[in-house]
Amino acid sequence: MEFTRRHLAECGSTNTEALDHLRDGGGPLLVSASRQTAGRGRLGRVWQSDGAALTFSLALPLPAALDLSGLSLAVGCAVADELDPAGRRIRLKWPNDLFLDGAKLGGILIEAVPLPGGQRGVVIGIGLNLQPLPPGADRSAYASGHAALQSLDPAATAAATLDRLAPALRALLADFETLGFAPWQPAFARRDLAAGQPVRVGEQVGIARGVSVRGELLLETAGGVQAVSAGELSLRLETSP
Ligand code: BTN
Repeated sequence: MEFTRRHLAECGSTNTEALDHLRDGGGPLLVSASRQTAGRGRLGRVWQSDGAALTFSLALPLPAALDLSGLSLAVGCAVADELDPAGRRIRLKWPNDLFLDGAKLGGILIEAVPLPGGQRGVVIGIGLNLQPLPPGADRSAYASGHAALQSLDPAATAAATLDRLAPALRALLADFETLGFAPWQPAFARRDLAAGQPVRVGEQVGIARGVSVRGELLLETAGGVQAVSAGELSLRLETSP
């Protein structure tokens, strides 16, 4: 599968660019931007980085029937394996966050648009912080902390990092249609930030016990182990409001 590459000096959101491209009947695209003015995160949040960041999206048509659960986990594994092959410092927080040394390094936002002919346009947006926050930045805007890739690899630039990640992501997407998340399950387990910890997902609390072959969070609760397919995971138990 060949991805057309496009780089924009500035745009609202590379995910929006990618979704529009698919709606217009375009084929596989990798679109990156030096600056986003309206970057989006999951659950309607703003995705912002006051330090330099790598922001890009992959767009491709896939069969509408393809199960996308586990895709963001597989993407996280592919990114982490490429940037930290020894597996020591980058961890993954279900379902879409990358952490470096305990603070948020980046995130993944998957969005989809219906297409004709039994297809669905799938967009995988990835944002990675490259540089530490500048002095005076509002740290309270980063609820999970802020980590920078340059503390792992001081030479990491946006262009060089994208050149490293693109082949790994292309390979993942070529296989995902037939294999799904299952081959990535052991890779996720090696980097699972929440494994064995008390967590909350929405109203549910329990101990995180890894993920299923479909990428669902396995939550050990008083009533047994439950497979949770969507939601926001917090690592510390909080008192219910
Ligand atoms: C999250 O942490 O909730 C997901 C963040 C995803 C951010 C990336 S940056 C490139 C792409 N364009 C966007 O507007 N969002 C994603």
